[in-house]
Amino acid sequence: MREKKREGAVRSGPDGKNQKKEAGRKEPIGRLERRDDREWAGREAGGRKDSDAQNKGIQYWRPSNMLYPLPAVLVSCMDEQGRANVMTAAWAGTVCSDPVMVSVSIRPQRYSHDIIERTGEFVLAVTTEEMVRAVDYAGVRSGRDEDKFERLHLKKTKSLHVKAPGIAQSPVNLECHVEQILHLGSHDMFIARVLSTDIDPQYLDEKGRFALEKAHLLAYSHGEYYGLGRYLGKFGFSVQGRGPEGRDKAPAKAGKNAGSRYFPKGKGEDSGSGNVRRGSKSPGRG
Ligand SMILES: Cc1cc2nc3c(=O)[nH]c(=O)nc-3n(C[C@H](O)[C@H](O)[C@H](O)COP(=O)(O)O)c2cc1C
Repeated sequence: MREKKREGAVRSGPDGKNQKKEAGRKEPIGRLERRDDREWAGREAGGRKDSDAQNKGIQYWRPSNMLYPLPAVLVSCMDEQGRANVMTAAWAGTVCSDPVMVSVSIRPQRYSHDIIERTGEFVLAVTTEEMVRAVDYAGVRSGRDEDKFERLHLKKTKSLHVKAPGIAQSPVNLECHVEQILHLGSHDMFIARVLSTDIDPQYLDEKGRFALEKAHLLAYSHGEYYGLGRYLGKFGFSVQGRGPEGRDKAPAKAGKNAGSRYFPKGKGEDSGSGNVRRGSKSPGRG
């Protein structure tokens, strides 16, 4: 993968490694003093007897981004000359329900980074199992060297509010306007407002509801791609005292009151004290 070389003074980072500091670039926020790697490596739960007993040999590794699975999304953008580019991002997510906002963290070296920074726009495309090859390729080749839309036969859709195109193969495209850029360190986080949610009608059911589960969405976990597996339940089913609504009876092996590691039999199946309304038809909103 070819990366753009960035100019700037070399300084020593908190982990002792040299880090490039871009000229005129703001100091990253949230910079914490990090423990020395050697201190973390293989460090076991020690010190407190009770935690030894509870933790069963748990290992405390140094901090890593092991929050998986994640969606692998395609991020499209368009430069001032009308050239579209697309890159893959896994460091993306929902950050606010009202207003609807998402974030995507992009390394400054990426070709897409500066385009998005300059234009203040991008489209986040949700991806499917069928798109896995394109998702991988868009994540290892740069738009600096080739037109990835053309190379990957990705069809563009016209966006309503931004110049960046959507991707026709995606079930959902989120048209985004950048509101803030946080310089976190290795990545800049683009926090953006969703201006339009563009839906492929083939995923609408007969009642006009969006059936995203039919799309066979793609997930990224610890360096590997996965299809999302079996349907296990609907948001809030654990406190609604019945199986997934109208689709199947209950998650496998979790028959009525079956109990599990997390909700022992007879416990945890809240009968309405939670914040999920019984019979609520609306999907969960964080
Ligand atoms: C599964 C996957 C996830 C990725 N996630 C990110 C990410 O969240 N942020 C990022 O800056 N790069 C990420 N990358 C790397 C970029 O997609 C890659 O560097 C790409 O070539 C950049 O394209 P561009 O130079 O055309 O902008 C990811 C790559 C893959 C394969």
